Amino acid sequence: MLALVYQGPGQKKLDDRAKPAVQAPGDAVVRITKTTICGTDLHILKGDVATCKPGTVLGHEGVGIIDSVGAGVATFKPGDRVLISCISSCGRCGPCRERMYSHCTTGGWILGNTIDGTQAEFVRIPYADTSLYPIPPGADEEALVMLSDILPTGFECGVLNGKVQVGSTVAIVGSGPIGLAALLTAQFYSPAEIIMVDLDDNRLEVARRFGATATVNSAKGDAAQQVMDLTGGRGGDTVIEAVGIPATFKICQDVVAAGGTVANVGVHGCKVDLELERLWSHNVTITTGLVDTFSIPMLLKTVQSKRIDAAKLITHRFKLERILAAYDTFAQAADTKALKVIIEA
Ligand SMILES: NC(=O)c1ccc[n+]([C@@H]2O[C@H](COP(=O)([O-])OP(=O)(O)OC[C@H]3O[C@@H](n4cnc5c(N)ncnc54)[C@H](O)[C@@H]3O)[C@@H](O)[C@H]2O)c1
Ligand SMILES: [Zn+2]
Ligand SMILES: [Zn+2]
Repeated sequence: MLALVYQGPGQKKLDDRAKPAVQAPGDAVVRITKTTICGTDLHILKGDVATCKPGTVLGHEGVGIIDSVGAGVATFKPGDRVLISCISSCGRCGPCRERMYSHCTTGGWILGNTIDGTQAEFVRIPYADTSLYPIPPGADEEALVMLSDILPTGFECGVLNGKVQVGSTVAIVGSGPIGLAALLTAQFYSPAEIIMVDLDDNRLEVARRFGATATVNSAKGDAAQQVMDLTGGRGGDTVIEAVGIPATFKICQDVVAAGGTVANVGVHGCKVDLELERLWSHNVTITTGLVDTFSIPMLLKTVQSKRIDAAKLITHRFKLERILAAYDTFAQAADTKALKVIIEA
């Protein structure tokens, strides 16, 4: 089968690999119909994710059709259409019983990281019963790819951890797919203001269309000062970091209101300063987290009922044979205006 294989920092190859087989009773093999590329895949390719070893098939998002199941799989059978969570969970260990699936002692974020992922014709999914979700008949499967990772991540790590509330002020630093997913799902709670910060005017324009009340281009002047000016000097009650570099975490620290929360979502590849000498008296909370994806069933309902339009995050489509072009398009978003690229296997 065709698969996109990580070859070490800066290198990837579209290769011919053996089709995966069921290895444990709880496994399912899924024939991928649609997958996508995440900002985290770009982090892996930069060498930021040490757990991902050369030779691993990339990708942790997608939808597909069950090809085969192990003897222990009770919920799914061959032919069923399924949504793949980016987090594999056994459902039984301590962290899983506490709904912290990202810390499953034998699962978590393993797909496209420590085991072969979804950017291939087939993928083996461990703990299929608790890591796959049935796709409702008639659903827009392309839109559901947004539920594997980005919508739950924006919602759980950004909106819920950041405690977005009715009438509050939200600032989101990073208007990529994750920042935009936070923007869409923050609106469940009707904050009064949502300010988006990015370097890319196109992404800021998208943010305005998706409901941002103001935007700040951090390439033009002091972004933190602009956010402070927009909030009458108060800052944001919820500040969401959706980039993953020291400069953007600094903006978050500079604009969080007294008593507010900085919800970090970005994957950081290097050491970041925490300005405790200033923040110690500011009554702030800083949260971090890897997505648990416990919100997938709830978010699926909001997509099905059209409370959120997940499909509007999709800008480009490629066949799996052209996944290298898809990576180029996704990585050069400032020129290509790409948000999420769908890859059809
Ligand atoms: N915590 C989790 O579970 C989790 C899950 C998925 C993704 N992530 C991470 O979330 C982050 C965002 O993901 P994405 O897919 O949206 O990535 P992306 O690379 O598409 O988007 C990042 C955005 O940040 C902007 N940016 C870069 N430098 C900036 C600066 N100095 N000021 C303002 N904006 C700046 C870019 O223009 C871009 O729009 C990544 O770090 C990704 O790895 C975390
Ligand atoms: Zn991801
Ligand atoms: Zn577990």
